[in-house]
Amino acid sequence: MQNLDRIVQEARVDFSATDDPDALEQVKARYLGKSGRITALLKEMARLSPEERKATGQTINRAKEAIENALSERRDALRRAALERRLAEEAVDVTLPGRREVQGGLHPVTRTLERIEALFRSIGFEVADGPEIEADFQNFTALNMPEGHPARSMHDTFYLLDENGAVADDVLLRTHTSPIQVRYMQAHVEKYGALETMPDIRIIAPGRVYRVDSDATHSPMFHQVEGLWIGANVSLADLKGVCADFLRRFFESDDLKVRFRPSFFPFTEPSAEIDVAFMSGALEGRWLEIAGCGMVHPNVLRHVGIDPEKYTGFAFGMGPDRLTMLRYGVSDLRLFFDGDLRFLRQFV
Ligand code: DAH
Repeated sequence: MQNLDRIVQEARVDFSATDDPDALEQVKARYLGKSGRITALLKEMARLSPEERKATGQTINRAKEAIENALSERRDALRRAALERRLAEEAVDVTLPGRREVQGGLHPVTRTLERIEALFRSIGFEVADGPEIEADFQNFTALNMPEGHPARSMHDTFYLLDENGAVADDVLLRTHTSPIQVRYMQAHVEKYGALETMPDIRIIAPGRVYRVDSDATHSPMFHQVEGLWIGANVSLADLKGVCADFLRRFFESDDLKVRFRPSFFPFTEPSAEIDVAFMSGALEGRWLEIAGCGMVHPNVLRHVGIDPEKYTGFAFGMGPDRLTMLRYGVSDLRLFFDGDLRFLRQFV
C-alpha cells in the first residue's frame, strides 16, 4: 500500500518538525488518535473480505508500529534536548575561585573601650549610657556652665535646627560625656533620694562626642570615657588611686609615671589634668595629657538634688582615642575614622 508508506513518511516529517513535547502529543493524535488517519484506515477494513482483511490488517499494523517507533524516538530526542539545555543553563564553573569569608574585627578604639570597661568593672564600676543628641541643661547648665559660658559658642558646639530651620536653643550634639553624669545622678536621686543614705554611684560612661574641630589630633567626632564616684566619704586620694591604678593596668606597666597637674573645669573643684610619661620607647620621658578630673563641684550636686554637705565625689573624663594612639603607636588620630581597611586590618 503506497498510501500507507506516505502516511508513515509524513508522520516522521511532522514529528521531527515538532520541538515541543505537548505539541508532539497533538501531532500524534492526527495519526493514532480516535479520528486519526491510521484509525480511519482500520475502520475501513470492515468493508473488506476476511482474506483481504488479514493482509491489509498486517500492513496497517506495521505502519502503525513504524509511526509509534518514530513517535517514541522523537519523544526521547526532545527529553534529551531538554536535559542538555538544563545542564548547560545550570552549569557551575568549577574553575572560578571560591568566595572567601572575610574575617571582620573590632575597631581599635572599640578594643580600647572594651578594655577600659573591663578594668573598671573589675573594681565595681557600672557602665552607663546617654543620648548623643543632648539637652542644653544636661550638657551645660547642670555642669556649672551657665548661659554665656564660652564653651557654648557656635564655633565649639554643633547645634541642631528646628522644624523652621532656625537654631534650636535646647538641643545640641553632646560636646562631652559629662552629661551622662548628670542623667545618671538625676535617675539615682529619683530612685534613692528619699532614703536616709543613698548607695554610692560608681560609673564609667563611654561614648561619642562632637565638637567643631578638625586637625591631626582633633576630629569633629571623637570618644570620651566619663567616670564618676559619688559617696559619703569619697576623697581626692580615691581619685588619684583609682586613676593611677587604672592607667598602670591599661598600659600593663608599673614603669609608668602618672602626675596630677592643677587645672580648671567648671564642674569640678579642685580640678586637675592627668598626665602620663613612659619610661621607655619612642615617647620616653615625655608628659602626655590623658584625662581631666576633679572633685565634683557642689553646684553640680545641687543641680541634680544631691546635698553636697552629705556627699562628695570625683569625676574624670578621658580620651580613649588618645589612649589607643599611645597603646598602638599611631600618630594621626584621623586614621581611626577614615575607614581605610589597610590600616584597620592591622588590629584584627
Ligand atoms: N568634660 C571635659 C571635657 O570634655 C572632660 C572632663 C574633665 C570630664 C574633668 C570630667 C572632669 O568629668 O572631672 O573637656
